[in-house]
Amino acid sequence: MIGKFIVLEGPDGSGKSTMAQKIGQYFSELGREIEFTREPGGTDISEKIRELILDRNNTEMDYRTEALLYAAARAQLVNEKIIPWLEDGKIVISERYVYSSLVYQGLGRDLGMEEIKKINDFGTSGLKPDMVLLLDVDPEKALKRKLSIDGGDRLENENISFHRDVYEGYKCLSDFCPEVRTIDAERTIDEIFQEIKDIINSF
Ligand code: TYD
Repeated sequence: MIGKFIVLEGPDGSGKSTMAQKIGQYFSELGREIEFTREPGGTDISEKIRELILDRNNTEMDYRTEALLYAAARAQLVNEKIIPWLEDGKIVISERYVYSSLVYQGLGRDLGMEEIKKINDFGTSGLKPDMVLLLDVDPEKALKRKLSIDGGDRLENENISFHRDVYEGYKCLSDFCPEVRTIDAERTIDEIFQEIKDIINSF
């Protein structure tokens, strides 16, 4: 495939959208075609699954159901959109990918990283990103910012110890997945983006 698949990861409120926009702008100034996507979502079917997963009223949802729904939304996105975009030579920038499931469902929900990897390898046909950037910020700070903006969704309204587990999970993600690059995201937007540009240019 001649395109490039770039994934942004990090806790809720870590600034993934801002960096996605800046990376997109950078590549489009280089004359590349860009596609943005977010998970869960990004296709009609995946957006419907997203509503199911994040609905604050679905308090009875089993953790395994949750994990399978994330994987199902992702399978649709990868097969309907991401693979064709990459085959067309586009730069695909995704907020979140399999890594979110490894951390939130594998560790946060305690379902195990290996199990989560298995269902996602099936769902994505094993599609791997070219670059994975992990925005590292203190989860309490990030979450406070997010909840003060929109009140938060079902996952964001989990108690802080869930988000702490998720954060600890992100911290050890690069041991399980060596392709993950960790970036200190408690700096100015310009400083963070400068580091990302250096990584892009070293590829
Ligand atoms: P969203 O509002 O898109 O959050 P963000 O802007 O931080 O990405 O909501 C996505 C939520 O779903 C977020 O709390 C993380 C969670 N999530 C998982 O638990 N597993 C996953 O595989 C994915 C993609 C997201």
